Amino acid sequence: MPAGDPLLTPFKLKHLTLRNRLMTTSHEPAYSEDGMPKERYRLYHAERAKGGVALTMTAGSAVVSLDSPPVFGNLLAYKDEIVPWLRDLADVCHEHGAAVMIQLTHLGRRSVWNAGDWLPVVAPSLVREPAHRAFPKIAEAFDLERIAADYAAAAQRMQAAGLDGIELEMYGHLIDQF
Ligand SMILES: Cc1cc2nc3c(=O)[nH]c(=O)nc-3n(C[C@H](O)[C@H](O)[C@H](O)COP(=O)(O)O)c2cc1C
Repeated sequence: MPAGDPLLTPFKLKHLTLRNRLMTTSHEPAYSEDGMPKERYRLYHAERAKGGVALTMTAGSAVVSLDSPPVFGNLLAYKDEIVPWLRDLADVCHEHGAAVMIQLTHLGRRSVWNAGDWLPVVAPSLVREPAHRAFPKIAEAFDLERIAADYAAAAQRMQAAGLDGIELEMYGHLIDQF
């Protein structure tokens, strides 16, 4: 690598100093087991940390609510039991010098009703999502209040696990569906 390559210089992101400008972006490898990031998931991210990235973004769309059914192996960020699994993952990545964040989402209509707990899919309107094809229930004010609280509770779980930050999925999922 050429000396002084800007990609390899540290980057300050609010509270966090990243060792360089390289990161892996959110994607769900479908390595979750029972919706949890267990050994395979941990090792997957540990390899990235060992490889030298400054930041590994875990999950693709970890779901914050029960009525965001995990349609592609999503991590269940609404469960307290995720905290120790993520703490182990974060600890090993930190030991290798990488920061760890997670992408949180509510899938809205971008899911199916017959996964997870078989709850109705909610969205801002009755429009059907072409890929997953559920007919959503229109989210009511009380649904949105509950979901907003779910986002906050999930963020607190991530903080309790020692993660360095969160990312909110803004494309195609509930927030974007408005
Ligand atoms: C299998 C797979 C799943 C992905 N899931 C997500 C996701 O859940 N959220 C997201 O923001 N991006 C997701 N992405 C997009 C990646 O984060 C990345 O932006 C994209 O793959 C382009 O980068 P690349 O050219 O290095 O592959 C996914 C990509 C792949 C290949």
